[in-house]
Amino acid sequence: MSSYFKYTGNELHFGLNPKSLSAWTKSYQGPAYIYDLAIIADRYSKMKSALKGVDLYYAMKANSNIEILKFLQKMGCKIDVVSLGEIERALQAGFAAKDIVFSGVGKTVKEISNAIDLSIHQINVESLAELVRICEIAKSKNKQVAIALRLNPNISIDTHPYIATGLHENKFGIELSVLEEIKKFLLQNRQHLSLKGISLHLGSQMLEFSGLREALQILKKVYLDLKLQYPELHRFDFGGGLGIHYESTDLKKEEFLLAEYAQVIHQELSPLGAELQSEPGRWLVAHAGLLMTEIQYLKPTPYKNFIIVDSGMNHLLRPALYEAYHQIYSTRENSDKPVNSYDVVGPICESADFFGKSRSLHETQAGEFLVIADTGAYGFSMANTYNLQSLPQEIVFDSRD
Ligand SMILES: Cc1ncc(COP(=O)(O)O)c(C=O)c1O
Repeated sequence: MSSYFKYTGNELHFGLNPKSLSAWTKSYQGPAYIYDLAIIADRYSKMKSALKGVDLYYAMKANSNIEILKFLQKMGCKIDVVSLGEIERALQAGFAAKDIVFSGVGKTVKEISNAIDLSIHQINVESLAELVRICEIAKSKNKQVAIALRLNPNISIDTHPYIATGLHENKFGIELSVLEEIKKFLLQNRQHLSLKGISLHLGSQMLEFSGLREALQILKKVYLDLKLQYPELHRFDFGGGLGIHYESTDLKKEEFLLAEYAQVIHQELSPLGAELQSEPGRWLVAHAGLLMTEIQYLKPTPYKNFIIVDSGMNHLLRPALYEAYHQIYSTRENSDKPVNSYDVVGPICESADFFGKSRSLHETQAGEFLVIADTGAYGFSMANTYNLQSLPQEIVFDSRD
Protein backbone atom coordinates (compact mmCIF):
# COMPACT_ATOMS: atom_id res chain seq x y z
CA MET A 1 0.00 0.00 0.00
CA SER A 2 1.23 3.48 -0.85
CA SER A 3 2.52 5.44 2.09
CA TYR A 4 -0.02 8.15 1.32
CA PHE A 5 -2.86 5.68 2.03
CA LYS A 6 -3.62 3.72 5.19
CA TYR A 7 -6.56 2.05 6.87
CA THR A 8 -7.40 3.11 10.39
CA GLY A 9 -10.51 1.69 12.09
CA ASN A 10 -11.73 0.09 8.83
CA GLU A 11 -11.61 3.48 7.03
CA LEU A 12 -9.25 4.53 4.27
CA HIS A 13 -7.14 7.59 5.05
CA PHE A 14 -5.20 9.62 2.47
CA GLY A 15 -2.63 12.39 2.46
CA LEU A 16 0.81 13.36 3.67
CA ASN A 17 -0.80 13.30 7.14
CA PRO A 18 -3.44 10.74 6.17
CA LYS A 19 -7.02 11.99 6.72
CA SER A 20 -10.20 9.91 6.66
CA LEU A 21 -12.08 10.01 3.36
CA SER A 22 -15.43 9.40 5.06
CA ALA A 23 -16.51 13.07 4.97
CA TRP A 24 -16.28 12.94 1.18
CA THR A 25 -18.08 9.63 0.82
CA LYS A 26 -20.90 11.01 3.00
CA SER A 27 -21.26 14.17 0.91
CA TYR A 28 -20.62 12.35 -2.39
CA GLN A 29 -22.24 14.00 -5.42
CA GLY A 30 -20.54 12.11 -8.21
CA PRO A 31 -16.99 11.08 -9.12
CA ALA A 32 -14.39 13.43 -7.68
CA TYR A 33 -10.66 13.93 -7.84
CA ILE A 34 -9.35 14.73 -4.36
CA TYR A 35 -5.94 16.40 -4.09
CA ASP A 36 -3.71 16.94 -1.08
CA LEU A 37 -1.63 20.13 -1.33
CA ALA A 38 0.65 18.87 1.45
CA ILE A 39 1.89 16.05 -0.80
CA ILE A 40 2.62 18.53 -3.60
CA ALA A 41 4.51 20.80 -1.17
CA ASP A 42 6.58 17.85 0.01
CA ARG A 43 7.35 16.63 -3.51
CA TYR A 44 8.20 20.14 -4.73
CA SER A 45 10.61 20.74 -1.83
CA LYS A 46 12.28 17.37 -2.38
CA MET A 47 12.73 17.96 -6.09
CA LYS A 48 13.90 21.54 -5.60
CA SER A 49 16.57 20.46 -3.15
CA ALA A 50 17.73 17.47 -5.25
CA LEU A 51 17.95 19.59 -8.40
CA LYS A 52 19.80 22.41 -6.71
CA GLY A 53 20.26 25.44 -8.95
CA VAL A 54 17.65 24.24 -11.48
CA ASP A 55 14.59 26.39 -12.24
CA LEU A 56 11.48 24.19 -12.11
CA TYR A 57 8.83 24.96 -14.75
CA TYR A 58 5.87 22.77 -13.71
CA ALA A 59 4.31 21.13 -16.80
CA MET A 60 0.73 22.34 -16.44
CA LYS A 61 -0.61 19.62 -18.73
CA ALA A 62 -0.23 17.15 -15.84
CA ASN A 63 -2.82 18.97 -13.73
CA SER A 64 -4.16 22.46 -14.40
CA ASN A 65 -6.32 22.81 -11.31
CA ILE A 66 -6.19 26.53 -10.45
CA GLU A 67 -5.71 26.01 -6.71
CA ILE A 68 -2.78 23.68 -7.36
CA LEU A 69 -1.28 26.21 -9.76
CA LYS A 70 -1.65 29.07 -7.27
CA PHE A 71 -0.07 26.88 -4.60
CA LEU A 72 2.92 25.96 -6.77
CA GLN A 73 3.36 29.58 -7.82
CA LYS A 74 3.47 30.66 -4.17
CA MET A 75 6.13 28.01 -3.52
CA GLY A 76 8.33 29.66 -6.16
CA CYS A 77 7.66 27.31 -9.04
CA LYS A 78 7.57 28.53 -12.64
CA ILE A 79 5.39 27.10 -15.40
CA ASP A 80 5.56 25.20 -18.70
CA VAL A 81 2.51 25.55 -20.97
CA VAL A 82 1.40 24.12 -24.31
CA SER A 83 -1.54 26.27 -25.41
CA LEU A 84 -3.07 29.72 -25.15
CA GLY A 85 -5.58 28.23 -22.73
CA GLU A 86 -2.72 27.18 -20.48
CA ILE A 87 -1.03 30.61 -20.83
CA GLU A 88 -4.27 32.26 -19.71
CA ARG A 89 -4.66 29.81 -16.82
CA ALA A 90 -1.04 30.47 -15.74
CA LEU A 91 -1.61 34.24 -15.66
CA GLN A 92 -4.88 33.75 -13.80
CA ALA A 93 -3.03 31.67 -11.20
CA GLY A 94 -0.55 34.50 -10.63
CA PHE A 95 2.46 33.39 -12.68
CA ALA A 96 4.36 36.29 -14.24
CA ALA A 97 4.83 36.19 -18.02
CA LYS A 98 8.58 36.05 -17.44
CA ASP A 99 8.07 32.71 -15.63
CA ILE A 100 6.33 31.00 -18.56
CA VAL A 101 7.95 28.58 -21.02
CA PHE A 102 5.79 27.79 -24.07
CA SER A 103 6.25 24.24 -25.42
CA GLY A 104 4.23 22.21 -27.94
CA VAL A 105 4.44 21.14 -31.59
CA GLY A 106 1.43 22.92 -33.04
CA LYS A 107 1.50 26.53 -31.88
CA THR A 108 -0.92 28.66 -33.90
CA VAL A 109 -0.33 32.24 -35.12
CA LYS A 110 -2.71 33.48 -32.43
CA GLU A 111 -0.89 31.59 -29.68
CA ILE A 112 2.56 32.77 -30.78
CA SER A 113 1.34 36.32 -31.21
CA ASN A 114 -0.05 36.36 -27.66
CA ALA A 115 3.14 34.84 -26.24
CA ILE A 116 5.22 37.52 -27.97
CA ASP A 117 2.95 40.34 -26.77
CA LEU A 118 3.37 39.05 -23.22
CA SER A 119 7.19 38.76 -23.54
CA ILE A 120 7.18 35.33 -21.92
CA HIS A 121 10.45 33.73 -20.75
CA GLN A 122 10.97 31.52 -23.79
CA ILE A 123 9.25 29.78 -26.67
CA ASN A 124 10.51 26.21 -27.19
CA VAL A 125 10.63 25.82 -30.96
CA GLU A 126 9.79 22.41 -32.44
CA SER A 127 10.46 22.82 -36.19
CA LEU A 128 11.96 25.07 -38.87
CA ALA A 129 8.44 25.96 -40.05
CA GLU A 130 7.54 27.12 -36.53
CA LEU A 131 10.76 29.15 -36.31
CA VAL A 132 9.88 30.89 -39.59
CA ARG A 133 6.38 31.62 -38.29
CA ILE A 134 7.70 33.05 -35.00
CA CYS A 135 10.14 35.22 -36.92
CA GLU A 136 7.44 36.62 -39.22
CA ILE A 137 5.21 37.48 -36.28
CA ALA A 138 8.11 39.06 -34.35
CA LYS A 139 9.05 41.08 -37.44
CA SER A 140 5.49 42.37 -37.82
CA LYS A 141 5.59 43.55 -34.20
CA ASN A 142 9.15 44.81 -34.48
CA LYS A 143 10.21 42.66 -31.55
CA GLN A 144 12.94 40.20 -30.67
CA VAL A 145 11.75 36.88 -29.22
CA ALA A 146 13.57 34.65 -26.72
CA ILE A 147 13.60 31.12 -28.07
CA ALA A 148 15.00 27.70 -27.23
CA LEU A 149 15.39 24.93 -29.79
CA ARG A 150 13.75 21.69 -28.73
CA LEU A 151 16.04 19.05 -30.18
CA ASN A 152 15.27 15.42 -30.96
CA PRO A 153 18.38 13.32 -30.24
CA ASN A 154 16.81 10.04 -31.44
CA ILE A 155 17.28 8.27 -28.12
CA SER A 156 14.85 5.70 -26.83
CA ILE A 157 13.84 5.37 -23.20
CA ASP A 158 12.12 2.50 -21.49
CA THR A 159 8.55 3.74 -21.39
CA HIS A 160 5.20 3.24 -23.13
CA PRO A 161 5.59 4.11 -26.85
CA TYR A 162 2.78 6.69 -26.57
CA ILE A 163 4.79 8.74 -24.07
CA ALA A 164 8.22 8.44 -25.72
CA THR A 165 9.04 11.66 -27.56
CA GLY A 166 12.74 11.66 -28.42
CA LEU A 167 12.89 9.33 -31.41
CA HIS A 168 13.07 9.93 -35.18
CA GLU A 169 9.54 8.59 -35.58
CA ASN A 170 8.09 11.01 -33.00
CA LYS A 171 6.61 14.34 -34.05
CA PHE A 172 8.48 16.17 -31.30
CA GLY A 173 11.60 18.30 -31.50
CA ILE A 174 13.99 19.33 -34.24
CA GLU A 175 16.00 16.62 -35.97
CA LEU A 176 19.72 17.23 -35.55
CA SER A 177 20.09 16.91 -39.36
CA VAL A 178 18.02 20.11 -39.76
CA LEU A 179 20.24 22.09 -37.42
CA GLU A 180 22.45 23.63 -40.14
CA GLU A 181 19.42 25.11 -41.86
CA ILE A 182 18.10 26.38 -38.53
CA LYS A 183 21.45 28.02 -37.75
CA LYS A 184 21.50 29.77 -41.10
CA PHE A 185 17.99 31.10 -40.54
CA LEU A 186 18.85 32.29 -37.03
CA LEU A 187 21.93 34.13 -38.29
CA GLN A 188 19.87 35.94 -40.91
CA ASN A 189 17.20 36.92 -38.39
CA ARG A 190 19.11 37.87 -35.27
CA GLN A 191 17.12 41.07 -34.99
CA HIS A 192 13.95 39.11 -34.27
CA LEU A 193 15.12 35.79 -32.86
CA SER A 194 17.36 35.50 -29.83
CA LEU A 195 18.61 31.96 -29.24
CA LYS A 196 18.61 31.72 -25.45
CA GLY A 197 18.52 27.99 -24.97
CA ILE A 198 18.24 24.44 -26.13
CA SER A 199 15.66 22.07 -24.81
CA LEU A 200 14.95 18.38 -24.62
CA HIS A 201 12.09 16.21 -23.47
CA LEU A 202 12.76 12.51 -24.01
CA GLY A 203 9.43 11.25 -22.77
CA SER A 204 7.44 10.60 -19.67
CA GLN A 205 7.49 8.01 -16.85
CA MET A 206 11.28 7.48 -16.97
CA LEU A 207 12.49 5.10 -14.25
CA GLU A 208 15.97 4.53 -15.63
CA PHE A 209 18.36 7.18 -16.92
CA SER A 210 20.91 5.67 -19.32
CA GLY A 211 18.96 7.09 -22.29
CA LEU A 212 18.75 10.48 -20.65
CA ARG A 213 22.50 10.51 -20.01
CA GLU A 214 23.18 9.58 -23.63
CA ALA A 215 20.84 12.32 -24.89
CA LEU A 216 22.45 14.92 -22.63
CA GLN A 217 25.90 13.93 -23.87
CA ILE A 218 24.80 14.46 -27.47
CA LEU A 219 23.05 17.77 -26.78
CA LYS A 220 25.88 19.15 -24.65
CA LYS A 221 28.08 19.07 -27.74
CA VAL A 222 25.38 20.76 -29.77
CA TYR A 223 25.04 23.42 -27.06
CA LEU A 224 28.77 24.16 -27.01
CA ASP A 225 28.91 24.26 -30.78
CA LEU A 226 25.94 26.64 -31.02
CA LYS A 227 27.36 28.86 -28.30
CA LEU A 228 30.35 29.69 -30.50
CA GLN A 229 28.06 31.46 -32.95
CA TYR A 230 25.34 32.55 -30.52
CA PRO A 231 26.93 33.96 -27.36
CA GLU A 232 23.46 34.84 -26.02
CA LEU A 233 22.82 31.09 -25.63
CA HIS A 234 22.90 30.33 -21.90
CA ARG A 235 19.95 28.07 -20.99
CA PHE A 236 19.65 24.28 -21.05
CA ASP A 237 16.12 22.95 -20.53
CA PHE A 238 16.22 19.19 -19.93
CA GLY A 239 12.43 18.74 -19.89
CA GLY A 240 10.41 16.57 -17.53
CA GLY A 241 9.76 12.87 -17.46
CA LEU A 242 10.87 11.59 -14.06
CA GLY A 243 8.62 8.61 -13.32
CA ILE A 244 6.84 7.33 -10.25
CA HIS A 245 5.98 3.81 -9.06
CA TYR A 246 2.33 3.14 -9.78
CA GLU A 247 2.24 -0.59 -9.05
CA SER A 248 3.50 -0.60 -5.49
CA THR A 249 4.30 2.82 -4.20
CA ASP A 250 7.61 2.86 -2.43
CA LEU A 251 8.36 6.45 -1.57
CA LYS A 252 11.88 5.69 -0.38
CA LYS A 253 12.65 4.08 -3.74
CA GLU A 254 11.31 7.17 -5.49
CA GLU A 255 13.59 9.39 -3.46
CA PHE A 256 16.57 7.26 -4.48
CA LEU A 257 15.42 7.54 -8.06
CA LEU A 258 15.20 11.32 -7.74
CA ALA A 259 18.73 11.39 -6.32
CA GLU A 260 20.00 9.24 -9.20
CA TYR A 261 18.24 11.50 -11.72
CA ALA A 262 19.72 14.62 -10.10
CA GLN A 263 23.16 13.05 -10.19
CA VAL A 264 22.92 12.39 -13.95
CA ILE A 265 21.74 15.96 -14.53
CA HIS A 266 24.45 17.52 -12.39
CA GLN A 267 27.25 15.32 -13.73
CA GLU A 268 26.34 15.96 -17.34
CA LEU A 269 25.16 19.57 -17.26
CA SER A 270 26.89 21.43 -14.42
CA PRO A 271 30.19 21.73 -16.35
CA LEU A 272 28.36 23.72 -19.04
CA GLY A 273 27.81 26.64 -16.65
CA ALA A 274 24.40 27.12 -18.27
CA GLU A 275 21.18 28.22 -16.58
CA LEU A 276 19.37 24.91 -16.04
CA GLN A 277 15.63 24.48 -16.46
CA SER A 278 13.37 21.47 -15.97
CA GLU A 279 9.69 20.81 -16.77
CA PRO A 280 8.47 18.21 -14.27
CA GLY A 281 4.80 17.24 -14.22
CA ARG A 282 3.94 13.75 -13.02
CA TRP A 283 6.54 13.52 -10.24
CA LEU A 284 5.13 16.58 -8.48
CA VAL A 285 1.41 15.85 -8.60
CA ALA A 286 0.59 12.20 -9.46
CA HIS A 287 0.62 10.85 -5.91
CA ALA A 288 -1.24 13.91 -4.63
CA GLY A 289 -4.54 12.92 -6.25
CA LEU A 290 -7.08 10.13 -6.10
CA LEU A 291 -10.30 9.55 -8.01
CA MET A 292 -13.28 8.60 -5.84
CA THR A 293 -16.07 6.64 -7.48
CA GLU A 294 -19.23 4.89 -6.27
CA ILE A 295 -19.99 1.24 -6.99
CA GLN A 296 -23.20 0.97 -9.01
CA TYR A 297 -23.46 -2.74 -9.67
CA LEU A 298 -21.74 -6.03 -9.00
CA LYS A 299 -21.97 -8.21 -12.09
CA PRO A 300 -20.78 -11.78 -11.59
CA THR A 301 -20.59 -13.85 -14.78
CA PRO A 302 -19.32 -17.41 -15.31
CA TYR A 303 -16.07 -15.84 -16.54
CA LYS A 304 -15.47 -12.71 -14.48
CA ASN A 305 -16.65 -10.64 -11.58
CA PHE A 306 -17.24 -7.07 -12.67
CA ILE A 307 -17.53 -4.08 -10.39
CA ILE A 308 -19.28 -1.35 -12.36
CA VAL A 309 -18.63 2.16 -11.02
CA ASP A 310 -19.93 5.61 -11.96
CA SER A 311 -16.61 6.85 -13.37
CA GLY A 312 -14.60 5.54 -16.28
CA MET A 313 -12.23 6.29 -19.13
CA ASN A 314 -14.04 9.61 -19.55
CA HIS A 315 -12.57 10.72 -16.22
CA LEU A 316 -9.31 8.77 -16.18
CA LEU A 317 -8.05 7.87 -19.62
CA ARG A 318 -4.65 6.41 -18.68
CA PRO A 319 -5.69 2.72 -18.34
CA ALA A 320 -7.51 2.79 -21.70
CA LEU A 321 -4.81 4.80 -23.48
CA TYR A 322 -1.63 3.22 -22.12
CA GLU A 323 -2.92 0.17 -20.24
CA ALA A 324 -1.62 2.11 -17.26
CA TYR A 325 -1.84 0.49 -13.84
CA HIS A 326 -3.40 2.29 -10.88
CA GLN A 327 -3.86 0.80 -7.44
CA ILE A 328 -7.51 0.56 -6.39
CA TYR A 329 -8.69 0.70 -2.78
CA SER A 330 -12.04 0.34 -1.14
CA THR A 331 -12.80 3.23 1.24
CA ARG A 332 -13.89 0.58 3.79
CA GLU A 333 -11.31 -2.09 4.48
CA ASN A 334 -13.83 -4.92 5.04
CA SER A 335 -10.99 -7.23 6.02
CA ASP A 336 -13.45 -9.69 7.56
CA LYS A 337 -14.92 -10.38 4.09
CA PRO A 338 -13.39 -12.87 1.64
CA VAL A 339 -11.14 -11.61 -1.14
CA ASN A 340 -12.32 -11.94 -4.72
CA SER A 341 -10.88 -11.09 -8.12
CA TYR A 342 -12.66 -8.25 -9.93
CA ASP A 343 -12.48 -6.23 -13.11
CA VAL A 344 -13.29 -2.65 -12.15
CA VAL A 345 -15.05 -1.01 -15.09
CA GLY A 346 -16.95 2.17 -15.89
CA PRO A 347 -20.24 3.08 -17.57
CA ILE A 348 -18.77 4.08 -20.95
CA CYS A 349 -19.73 2.11 -24.06
CA GLU A 350 -16.20 0.90 -24.84
CA SER A 351 -14.47 -2.31 -23.80
CA ALA A 352 -11.36 -0.21 -23.06
CA ASP A 353 -13.34 1.42 -20.26
CA PHE A 354 -11.67 -0.16 -17.25
CA PHE A 355 -9.69 0.97 -14.21
CA GLY A 356 -8.21 -2.39 -13.36
CA LYS A 357 -8.43 -6.05 -14.34
CA SER A 358 -8.29 -9.10 -12.07
CA ARG A 359 -7.87 -7.01 -8.93
CA SER A 360 -8.01 -8.69 -5.54
CA LEU A 361 -10.47 -6.82 -3.35
CA HIS A 362 -12.45 -7.78 -0.28
CA GLU A 363 -16.05 -8.47 -1.22
CA THR A 364 -18.01 -5.28 -1.56
CA GLN A 365 -21.42 -4.04 -2.69
CA ALA A 366 -23.27 -1.34 -4.61
CA GLY A 367 -23.22 1.99 -2.77
CA GLU A 368 -19.68 1.44 -1.44
CA PHE A 369 -16.82 3.59 -2.74
CA LEU A 370 -13.55 2.83 -4.47
CA VAL A 371 -10.61 5.14 -4.99
CA ILE A 372 -8.23 4.99 -7.91
CA ALA A 373 -4.82 5.96 -6.54
CA ASP A 374 -2.07 8.18 -7.95
CA THR A 375 -4.32 10.03 -10.36
CA GLY A 376 -3.15 13.57 -9.64
CA ALA A 377 -1.28 13.69 -12.98
CA TYR A 378 -2.92 13.26 -16.38
CA GLY A 379 -6.25 12.55 -14.66
CA PHE A 380 -8.68 15.46 -14.70
CA SER A 381 -6.55 17.25 -17.32
CA MET A 382 -7.37 14.45 -19.82
CA ALA A 383 -11.00 14.03 -18.72
CA ASN A 384 -13.77 14.48 -21.26
CA THR A 385 -17.53 14.27 -21.58
CA TYR A 386 -17.73 11.24 -23.90
CA ASN A 387 -21.22 9.68 -23.79
CA LEU A 388 -22.29 13.12 -22.47
CA GLN A 389 -21.20 12.14 -18.99
CA SER A 390 -20.37 15.05 -16.69
CA LEU A 391 -16.81 15.96 -15.85
CA PRO A 392 -15.66 14.82 -12.40
CA GLN A 393 -15.51 17.28 -9.53
CA GLU A 394 -12.23 18.43 -8.04
CA ILE A 395 -11.68 18.83 -4.31
CA VAL A 396 -8.49 20.31 -2.91
CA PHE A 397 -7.46 19.99 0.73
CA ASP A 398 -4.29 20.28 2.78
CA SER A 399 -3.68 17.36 5.12
CA ARG A 400 -1.48 19.59 7.32
CA ASP A 401 -4.54 21.68 8.34
C1 LIG B 1 7.58 19.17 -23.39
C2 LIG B 1 7.18 18.48 -22.15
N1 LIG B 1 7.72 18.89 -20.99
C3 LIG B 1 7.37 18.31 -19.81
C4 LIG B 1 6.46 17.27 -19.76
C5 LIG B 1 6.12 16.67 -18.44
O1 LIG B 1 6.45 15.34 -18.34
P1 LIG B 1 6.26 14.54 -16.99
O2 LIG B 1 4.87 14.76 -16.53
O3 LIG B 1 6.52 13.14 -17.35
O4 LIG B 1 7.27 15.07 -16.01
C6 LIG B 1 5.90 16.80 -20.95
C7 LIG B 1 4.94 15.67 -20.91
O5 LIG B 1 4.54 15.09 -21.85
C8 LIG B 1 6.26 17.43 -22.18
O6 LIG B 1 5.73 17.02 -23.33
